[in-house]
Amino acid sequence: MAKKIAILGTGGTIAGVGPAGGAGYTAAQLGVEQLVAQVPALARAAPGGLLLEQVAQVDSKDMTTVLWQRLAQRCLALMGDPQVGGIVVTHGTDTLEETAWVLHELLGQGKPVVLTCAMRPATALAPDGPQNLLDAVTLAAHPLARGVLAVVAGVVHGAREVTKAHPLRLDAFASNDAGPVGWVELGAVRWARVPAGDGTARHAALAARLPDAPWPRVEIVLSHAGADGAVVDWMVAGGVRGIVVAATGNGTLHEALAQALERAQAAGVAVRVATRCPLGRMQAPDGARWRDARGLSPVKARISLMLELMEAARAPGAA
Ligand code: SIN
Repeated sequence: MAKKIAILGTGGTIAGVGPAGGAGYTAAQLGVEQLVAQVPALARAAPGGLLLEQVAQVDSKDMTTVLWQRLAQRCLALMGDPQVGGIVVTHGTDTLEETAWVLHELLGQGKPVVLTCAMRPATALAPDGPQNLLDAVTLAAHPLARGVLAVVAGVVHGAREVTKAHPLRLDAFASNDAGPVGWVELGAVRWARVPAGDGTARHAALAARLPDAPWPRVEIVLSHAGADGAVVDWMVAGGVRGIVVAATGNGTLHEALAQALERAQAAGVAVRVATRCPLGRMQAPDGARWRDARGLSPVKARISLMLELMEAARAPGAA
């Protein structure tokens, strides 16, 4: 028997409202029921029915760890419900890749969790949200779909690769070197590579027991011409627990910034190095001074480091 697809609303432009056809709108205005009401074809895409839930209502630039926690815990509960076959999350485009990554790190490769969004508000002359929502439900109901995915403008992206690559166009997301996981075309999923489906999330143990407390403070610092590291000293004085440095090229850093990071590390701050290049994966040389970010972009590396620090705090013997 066909299973239900849960749709969790979190806001974004997909739920945005503005003057018909005009410029300017306010994100996160329509509830998930209103989004679903715009797409009668959802009944066909999810023959087992839909479960609708409003988890948040935000412009995703204002996403918080509290909302991530709420969303992850709702996803976990729904993944454990035998009547639910998959989950769709409607989200803003601006931090979609961050939410995709935090869910990937916490939930892993079980039932599909498909994020979608829109570049135009629901009141636009030709909104893109309804088609994206239909594609997301089609994908979440597909028997081979696993883990955290995103679908935008018909292109399916994996959580590790997905990145917002354009500020305006409808096809705003890219998977860069890895390429898309697949496409949703005319109501059918065409896979470029079928999701593996056997991986456990790195932080699965944390997912059910996320502390009801602020997540450890981790900041991102950019290495650039003229960087002097003063911002690092200031962060350390302010109690930062981790720093991800967006390095030039293959992980190179301005020497003044590197010296500030040495001081931070000596003071107990965890340091990770990611490249600021949008394509490729940096190869840290043997004997590198800092751990590299496992090929993650700086924003995703920041999430992983926050989770690592929380995990370490839970470990037996942790202070
Ligand atoms: C947001 O990220 O919530 C607003 C922008 C968008 O969805 O495109």
